[in-house]
Amino acid sequence: MARFERHVFTCINDRDDADARGCCAQRGGLDIAAWFKAEGKARNWKGRVRANKAGCLDACEFGPVVVVYPEGVWYSPRTQEDVRAIAEQHIDGGQIVDELLVPGLNG
Ligand code: FES
Repeated sequence: MARFERHVFTCINDRDDADARGCCAQRGGLDIAAWFKAEGKARNWKGRVRANKAGCLDACEFGPVVVVYPEGVWYSPRTQEDVRAIAEQHIDGGQIVDELLVPGLNG
């Protein structure tokens, strides 16, 4: 049995400004990670869902990116409302949030 029902990884990788790939830190990844933490507290995820910061997830061009396991669903949230929708609909509700999916990374 898995230790957690779900695991949310948010890329916060930071690259030099000169790097053409850019990075999720420059595109709001730290805010996204903080908003997931806040959602976790508000929704009492402790012991059930983990929201972790991650290094590069190799999807830089779509950043900021988030991946939710065990389903392996990739999202690109931009706002606190986007994070709230993923928390409410997917993590707590089990329904994938189609409008926030990363095109091409979800099968
Ligand atoms: S920098 Fe975020 S996926 Fe690569």
